[in-house]
Amino acid sequence: MSQKIKLTEGKITVPSIKKGRKISAVTAYDFTFAEIVDEAGVDIVLVGDSLGSVIKGEKNTLSVTLDEVIYHTKAVSRGLKRSLLLADMPFMSYQISVEKGVENCGRALSEGFAEGVKIEGGISVASLIERLSLIDIPVMGHVGLTPQSVHRMGGYKVQGKENRKKIIDDARAVQDSGAFSVVLEGIPSDLAEEITDRLKIPTIGIGAGSKCDGQILVLYDLLGLSGGTPPKFVRQFSNLREASTKALKEYVEAVKNENFPDSGESYTLRKVQ
Ligand code: KIV
Repeated sequence: MSQKIKLTEGKITVPSIKKGRKISAVTAYDFTFAEIVDEAGVDIVLVGDSLGSVIKGEKNTLSVTLDEVIYHTKAVSRGLKRSLLLADMPFMSYQISVEKGVENCGRALSEGFAEGVKIEGGISVASLIERLSLIDIPVMGHVGLTPQSVHRMGGYKVQGKENRKKIIDDARAVQDSGAFSVVLEGIPSDLAEEITDRLKIPTIGIGAGSKCDGQILVLYDLLGLSGGTPPKFVRQFSNLREASTKALKEYVEAVKNENFPDSGESYTLRKVQ
């Protein structure tokens, strides 16, 4: 029986994420933004556990569940044609044992339709990455400032000042166990550059300077939707929060003034003779 393979022109796949060209990545959590991000030509879409903060309004990512990640990944998958879709494995979905981790990462692919997973940690998750690679579940690693370790770090603090060697060793362990790429978060630019030069797999930076092979940002930060003061490493490419508030104020006024809906926005019954 021949298998039907549907090819989308220019589809970003795991093997196409290579060094040699700059890689753009963002997070997304729903169908509509997935369509927008895909149309804009973003290479990688990550359903980040940052959904804990931007979707659920939590202080950190620790309460995000695998079912929530799968729910959002499935929604995003329906909006993507070209971008590579990765699911971020939440806290306690892969730390208990390699077996449990493999089973849960498998669910992200079979139920969420992700094309790969992202896992925080270096040497500590190397054996899991090895197993996943053996059974063809592509893995993006994540070292440096790992938000699921917020309590160990004592907050979201730049890493690699005192533990530079540990971060280099973590990044190498992620590569050697079979990951296809690695996120470098919250580390000094020169350390990110050194790791990028040493690794064969592409590095994707966030708060790690411009010398990484690619960059990733939380979509709501990039679009200026998040409230409060953005972290130093964020560039707001738009101010959708201000634009949305303005639009909503105009709507409230229009409702109050009976200016909305007008006759063109209303249905009328035609009299039948
Ligand atoms: O959860 C997330 O959004 C992330 C990225 C920003 C790297 O882990």
